Amino acid sequence: MPAEHKPVLAQYISRELTLQSNSIVVDATVGFAGHSSIFAQQLSSDGMIIGMDVDPKCLEVAKQNLSDAKCKVLLVRSNFSEIANVFRENGIESADLILADLGICSGQLADMDRGLSFGQDMKLDMRLDDRLETTAADIVNSRDEKGLADLIFKYGEERASRRIARSIVSYNQKAKIKTTGQLVDIICSALGCDPNARKNKIHPATKTFQALRIAVNKELENLEIFLDAVPSLLKKNGRAAIISFHSLEDRIVKNNFRNNKAAGIYDIITKKPIVADRTEEIENPRSRSAKLRIAVKI
Ligand SMILES: C[S@@+](CC[C@H](N)C(=O)[O-])C[C@H]1O[C@@H](n2cnc3c(N)ncnc32)[C@H](O)[C@@H]1O
Repeated sequence: MPAEHKPVLAQYISRELTLQSNSIVVDATVGFAGHSSIFAQQLSSDGMIIGMDVDPKCLEVAKQNLSDAKCKVLLVRSNFSEIANVFRENGIESADLILADLGICSGQLADMDRGLSFGQDMKLDMRLDDRLETTAADIVNSRDEKGLADLIFKYGEERASRRIARSIVSYNQKAKIKTTGQLVDIICSALGCDPNARKNKIHPATKTFQALRIAVNKELENLEIFLDAVPSLLKKNGRAAIISFHSLEDRIVKNNFRNNKAAGIYDIITKKPIVADRTEEIENPRSRSAKLRIAVKI
């Protein structure tokens, strides 16, 4: 996997989440440790970074990228929905900062084993954690038309979900869908479009691929469980910072912060989410849809 990954909204992360040299930081989606490398610069040997990820390849890259850190570093293969267990098993009581930068790293998109890319033909899989049983291929080859259409609409917000589901099911009557390339061709024939046409603002398969990735990795369920666990794991004045990349995730974060504010648990630092400036958008296209929300535990 290519080991390069530009952390999004890095300037705001440094500015808004200032740490003490002995802070305890949890990077719940450590990825290639782009954000954690920024934290490591602010921490002394009294500080600590706990980096979690479901993808062992990412943890290997994070280990290399944090090898010069002065602070303690603990890297754990775990889903962030298990964050309370990670604290318990490692004797950590509470943290000064818990960050989650949701979704996937650019390196995972290029990883042939992950099967996430519509730009490259690869085995259709989409599991970020290969201990999960169900792949994207299992879903498209087993669900009925209504089940597929509902899934593509709910998690991809794809208006043409019915047409796409119909095409998938009709293809399935002849053959199994095994690769991302096959799925792209099916989607494009359903939409009557050319995937390489310049007029496409986004690739025609984007929404369907997003829907399948969310379903395979149970992304929204895990996010809700994680967000519910965070308040009891933060110190007083500790911060929760979440970067989301699409409206379904952002809505869950926004509602969780609001509910915790109403319950007197959080103050919300970001009345509106922080987004990338024009320079970052040009330098790092992934940042275009990033939204950072921060809350502080009262
Ligand atoms: C956008 S990347 C994080 C990049 C990281 N902030 C950096 O700067 O290098 C998201 C990471 O979260 C991981 N991930 C996604 N869902 C997860 C979950 N439920 N629990 C733990 N890690 C998860 C992915 O494997 C990926 O490495």
